[in-house]
Amino acid sequence: MTQQAAIALGVELRVLANTPDESAARVIGDVRLGDYRDLETLRGFAKGCDALTFDHEHVPTEHIRALAADGFAVHPGADALVHAQDKAVMRERLTAIGAPCPPWRRVATVADVEEFAGEHGLPVVLKAVRGGYDGRGVWVCRSVEEAAEVLATGTPLMAEAFVPFERELAVLVARSPHGQGVSYPVVETVQRDGICVEVLAPAPGLDTEQAASAQRIALKIAHELGVTGLLAVEMFATASGLMVNELAMRPHNSGHWTIDGARTSQFEQHLRSVLDLPLGSPVMSAPVAVMANVLGGDDPDVFSRYEHVMAHDPGIKIHFYGKEVRPGRKIGHVTALGDNLDEVRARARHAAAYLSEGVYV
Ligand SMILES: Nc1ncnc2c1ncn2[C@@H]1O[C@H](COP(=O)(O)OP(=O)(O)OP(=O)(O)O)[C@@H](O)[C@H]1O
Ligand SMILES: [Mg+2]
Repeated sequence: MTQQAAIALGVELRVLANTPDESAARVIGDVRLGDYRDLETLRGFAKGCDALTFDHEHVPTEHIRALAADGFAVHPGADALVHAQDKAVMRERLTAIGAPCPPWRRVATVADVEEFAGEHGLPVVLKAVRGGYDGRGVWVCRSVEEAAEVLATGTPLMAEAFVPFERELAVLVARSPHGQGVSYPVVETVQRDGICVEVLAPAPGLDTEQAASAQRIALKIAHELGVTGLLAVEMFATASGLMVNELAMRPHNSGHWTIDGARTSQFEQHLRSVLDLPLGSPVMSAPVAVMANVLGGDDPDVFSRYEHVMAHDPGIKIHFYGKEVRPGRKIGHVTALGDNLDEVRARARHAAAYLSEGVYV
C-alpha cells in the first residue's frame, strides 16, 4: 500500500524482505532479500537510500542506532521507536509525560502478580513486554493461577489493571523531522479475539471536546517522544475519560480507511513525513468511512467471491494484501463511504464477511 502512494509521488522504494513472496516484495521493483536482525545486511541495504523506515517494529533498537550513527536518515529514530517496541518502556515514558495510562508494573514472579492483583483487583492483564501483535502476547488472567501459567513460559512480562472500557479509539498522527504535526480524525476500533476487525471514522458520538483532547494527547506523545513518521495511539474510552493502550509507529490498521476516505492516505502521509516534506490534508472525503478487515476463511479462493461483492455494491473499495489465505489471518480490507453510519457499516460488514466466508450478513 505504501508502494501505491510512492508511485504517485515518484518516490522509489527499496524493500528488505525475508522472502520473495512477502507482500511488499511482490510489488516493489527493488527487493533485497535478507534478515533485518543482521546489522551488516541492514548497512548494505541502506547504502544509497535517502531515508529508512519500517513496516514493523522488530528491527533491533541497537541496529537502528548504528545506522543513524553511520549517517543514515532513519525515521522513526531508535529513541522514539523503542516506545513501540517495548511496552514497559512505553508505559514508563507515558507516565512521565503525564499521558493517562492504566495502573501497571513489570512482573517477574507470582508474588509480583499477587501483590498487583491485591491492589488493583482481578482480572489482571499480562502483556509480553516485546514482540506481541494481534492480541498474541496479551493474556487476561482471571486468577493468579492463570497468571502463574503465563509466567511459567519465561516471557518478560508486565501487568496492567483490566480496563472496563466502553470502547476503543485510535488517533493517527504524523510528525515530520522539522516538527510539523497533523492529526487524522479520531476513530473507533472494534477488536474481536484481539484482532482489529472494524474501524469507524469518525468515532461515532464523540463530542468535539473529547475528540480534540484525544488528538492533543496523540500530538503531545509524538512531540515528546520525537516521533518522525506516523504514530498511531490506541486508546480506551472509559467512563472516567481516555487512557492510552499502546503505540505503533508505522502505517496502522486503524488508518487503512484513509486510502479511500481521506484527502491524504496514511501511506502517502508516512512517505511525506519520513522525507521531511510538508504534510498532506487529513480531512475526510465523506462524512462517514467504515473499514472492515477481511479475515481468511475456509475457502482460499477469494477471487471467486468478487463478482457478488462488486455487483452488490459498486461503491465498495476492496484491498487485498497478496498474502496466503489462512483461517483467521488478516488478508485484506474493504472500505465503504457515505452519510449514514448504520448504512455504511452494514455495507462494509457485508462485503468483508462475504469475501472472507461467502456468508451473507
Ligand atoms: N488493560 C487492558 N484492559 C482491558 N483490555 C485490554 C487491556 N490491554 C489490552 N486489552 C485488549 O487487548 C487488545 C490487544 O492489546 P494490545 O493492543 O496491547 O496488544 P497487541 O497484541 O500489541 O495489539 P495489536 O494487535 O494492536 O498489535 C486491546 O485492543 C484490548 O481490546
Ligand atoms: Mg493494540
